[in-house]
Amino acid sequence: MKDLVLDGTLQIGIDEIDDDHRKLVDLFNILNHSLTEGATTDYIESVLEELINCTVWHFSHEERLMLKYGYDRYLEHKTEHRDLIESAKALQQKFIQTGKLDEGEDIEFLERWLTEHILVADLRLGTFLIDAM
Ligand SMILES: [Fe+2]
Repeated sequence: MKDLVLDGTLQIGIDEIDDDHRKLVDLFNILNHSLTEGATTDYIESVLEELINCTVWHFSHEERLMLKYGYDRYLEHKTEHRDLIESAKALQQKFIQTGKLDEGEDIEFLERWLTEHILVADLRLGTFLIDAM
């Protein structure tokens, strides 16, 4: 799989959010490479942990901006964040228990996990923030 790039389609137009997303995309690429290059389970576990921790931090960042500017879809967006964290933690648990992540299915799941939220919910938030900030 080619590296994900935070190009035009994945940019929402708010620099501080795009910068966070770039970091998450970098971590996704590092995880993907670590699987194809046969990294140790400890290393893969640490990348997963970093990806999840960074995502938790980033979601708090977005939620603070939503509250600061009175975003009307705050609760809906926050619920989506909670579900995304739960699904990433479920994948992490699977890895901890089995020592395996599937280079196809699991990586495709994580790619969708990362991009679909950006392309719909975050793009909508970006459109709101461009006017509000
Ligand atoms: Fe978001």
